[in-house]
Amino acid sequence: MSERHLIGLNVNGATHEALVEPRKTLLDALRHDLGLTGTHVGCEHGVCGACTVLVDGEPVRACLMFAVQAENSDIRTVESLGENGELSDLQRSFRDHHGLQCGFCTPGFLMLAEGFLAQQPNADREEIREAVSANLCRCTGYQTIVDAIDATAACRRSTSDTEPACPGGNSAEKEATP
Ligand code: FES
Ligand code: FES
Repeated sequence: MSERHLIGLNVNGATHEALVEPRKTLLDALRHDLGLTGTHVGCEHGVCGACTVLVDGEPVRACLMFAVQAENSDIRTVESLGENGELSDLQRSFRDHHGLQCGFCTPGFLMLAEGFLAQQPNADREEIREAVSANLCRCTGYQTIVDAIDATAACRRSTSDTEPACPGGNSAEKEATP
């Protein structure tokens, strides 16, 4: 058995220690060592995107990164999206626009979209469509996923009363709430 290394992983704002073999993927460390099973295992070779997490804000396929490489990075998984048992605006939008059926691919799409919208808050529909083409969904079809992300982007940009209300409020309102 190869030597194991004690590493610290900064995940969703908390530091976790894990004793891992050098070959262990970030995906396996998240699921098996940290118990964060919201990140799903699909193809395990970088094609489907079901394992997408944010590493220093960038959407990354966790099956293609070794856990030891992720030390000293800020990692966000789908478990970081909700707060106090409430869905995030993006999660609500997926629900409201029927952006999922079986839900297997959904954590990956959510994290892909979260990272994308942080980098490109003014993305138009075509840019969103291009971004989500990185991940595979076998059952929903992409139309409603694009609808959900597009609606979230519009809500987050919304600053005037004339814009359509975001279900559950937009992120600016959330931050202003004590
Ligand atoms: S499980 Fe990582 S890309 Fe498919
Ligand atoms: S919702 Fe079933 S694979 Fe995407």
